[in-house]
Amino acid sequence: MIGIGCDHGGYELKLEVIKHLKERGFEIKDYGCDSTASCDYPVYGKAVAEAVASGECELGILICGTGIGMSMTANKVKGVRAALCSDCFSAKATKEHNNANVLCMGARTIGPGLALMIVDNFVDTPFSNDERHIRRISMIE
Ligand code: RB5
Repeated sequence: MIGIGCDHGGYELKLEVIKHLKERGFEIKDYGCDSTASCDYPVYGKAVAEAVASGECELGILICGTGIGMSMTANKVKGVRAALCSDCFSAKATKEHNNANVLCMGARTIGPGLALMIVDNFVDTPFSNDERHIRRISMIE
């Protein structure tokens, strides 16, 4: 299960990401928001981050205007490693090296075509399981 959330700034892109991932066969749980009406990104960032931390979702995706507020929020939740990505290399590397479990994106900083490629790199790349990366991640905790 992939949990997804957004604020008003990320709503339109979230719909595209959900459609794309469903077409690829992923199970998605949408934690809101549900329109482009102004709302508070920490509400939705926290909901998705807690779903990942509890194991309800294996991965999370959070979208706001910049992705910054969402990443700040998600990284406050213990066990969450949220990565703000605006390129495919980072999306792949953060899974391989950081075992990131939440992807954050900014709908006002990247276009939908790139966003879907970032999503694919994130969900398709496994953690390397290299000892040095396991050690470094445990040092974050
Ligand atoms: C909302 O205007 C905007 O502040 C929000 O989407 C996000 O960019 C915050 O980090």
